[in-house]
Amino acid sequence: MNRKIADLMEAMIAYDKGDVRRIQHFLKVHDLAVTIGTLEGLPENELFILEAAAILHDIGIHKSEEKYHSSAGKYQEIEGPGEAETLLANLGSFTTGQINRIKYLIAHHHTYGNIQEQDYQILVEADFLVNLYEDGSSKETVTKVLQNIFRTEAGIRLLKAMYNI
Ligand SMILES: [Fe+2]
Repeated sequence: MNRKIADLMEAMIAYDKGDVRRIQHFLKVHDLAVTIGTLEGLPENELFILEAAAILHDIGIHKSEEKYHSSAGKYQEIEGPGEAETLLANLGSFTTGQINRIKYLIAHHHTYGNIQEQDYQILVEADFLVNLYEDGSSKETVTKVLQNIFRTEAGIRLLKAMYNI
């Protein structure tokens, strides 16, 4: 992990202060996203953006709960990008292009209908690898997610190994 990502990790842990469950969630999603991205041979610049997006992907949850009394994915997608932009701008080590892509990924990470790019696909897969466990999903659900969502070879291998399907 490079210094910019470590600084972002520290800033996001501070943002989620005291919310250990959510902190541990994004740590896992980040680790799995880096693992899949590396196994899939993602270029370094894309891996960097993917790492940042994985750390920040659920940043909209607190605002969603405040504003809409819901943590539903669609509200997170609305509230997340603005929160992420503020945090990234404060760190000062991300370019406008990087920030825009990270915001896009946050704004779409619960939308599965038309995923074209690899960074987006990998973020979604990493989040599912963690959420299926945290939600206590059945084997039937895991199998459906494998068929309907997973596309990368590395992600498919990890899902099958983790959930023994
Ligand atoms: Fe998540």
